[in-house]
Amino acid sequence: MYSRVIGTGGYLPEKILTNHDLEHIVDTSDEWITERTGIKKRHIAEDDQTTCDLAEQAALRAIEASGKTADQIDLIVVATTTADKIFPSVACLLQQRLNIHGCAAFDVQAVCTGFIYAVGVADNFIKAGSAKCALVVGAETMSKIIDWSDRNTCVLFGDGAGAVIMEASEEPGVLSTHLHADGQFEKLLHVPAGVSHERHKLLDGEAHLQMRGAEVFKMAVTTLGRIVDETLEANNMKKTDIDWLVPHQANIRIIQATARKLHMNMDHVVVTVAEQGNTSAASVPLALDTAVREGKIQKGQTVLMEAFGGGFTWGSVLMKY
Ligand code: ACO
Repeated sequence: MYSRVIGTGGYLPEKILTNHDLEHIVDTSDEWITERTGIKKRHIAEDDQTTCDLAEQAALRAIEASGKTADQIDLIVVATTTADKIFPSVACLLQQRLNIHGCAAFDVQAVCTGFIYAVGVADNFIKAGSAKCALVVGAETMSKIIDWSDRNTCVLFGDGAGAVIMEASEEPGVLSTHLHADGQFEKLLHVPAGVSHERHKLLDGEAHLQMRGAEVFKMAVTTLGRIVDETLEANNMKKTDIDWLVPHQANIRIIQATARKLHMNMDHVVVTVAEQGNTSAASVPLALDTAVREGKIQKGQTVLMEAFGGGFTWGSVLMKY
């Protein structure tokens, strides 16, 4: 028994922030941002627009694309770092919006690797026979944890949501998932405040993302190189067996480094970072949805999705689409 992606959906908030807009907010330039990151613009949620609002739109589109109805969904997993509330989970809020009752619904928190983790969890539920039809979402409002006076970080991130419906199938879908973490790198990329630590920052609106960018960059490149090897070896596959790379969209230079590792032409790498920036857990499902809707990824093709993020966490999913 496999789990198989049978529908994808994505949603980006209407408001767009370009690099030129950012030139009026911090000391930066379109040239610097484009050259170092490949990002040209990002979408930003309104003040009253929540992560669940974005997740709901992406989920509705994925459900429609799958041909299923909401009442057939028996598992909801949402990957997010920017939940609407401390509790209930975004997954439970989303379940309510979709008028689904009774099935398991929970959030997964693995920052930029969140969607990969969520697919890993749903795949195992389905393979174990605990679920037949899962809604898996990556949704973020990163703009709400950004320090808009810090040029090192505020130029990098955007908001959005992506979703997939995964169904139990005898036909191959997910071939393997590979999930990893190493908490010793906590301080290279974190929001150093929460409910039980530095709570005053949370209450005063000062819970902001902090990052040591150059160190994160180096770790991301080497670690993603290793995860590619691990995934291919586990499936007895060669680099040439991969039809599409759907990478986490943090930085075009990180994406190009992984493509080089796979000897892959950039024509077979899905890139949305220029238009969307880094949407954390939403970036992989948004990129997957873009490529599917553009007719690039075709049924039966082999797709490698990978991500790296805060924790550090990292992982991959290899699947037949
Ligand atoms: N505009 C202009 N100058 C800037 C900006 C900016 N927005 N941000 C930083 N600078 C300056 C720095 O202050 C520094 O100036 P200095 O030399 O006078 O001190 C100079 O540019 C170089 O800074 P570096 O940090 O060394 O630049 P680098 O080439 O490493 O690029 C970047 C920075 C883009 C953050 C890169 O390190 C990166 O992409 N890292 C990965 C981080 C990432 O993507 N994290 C997201 C989460 S993890 C993930 O998703 C993979």
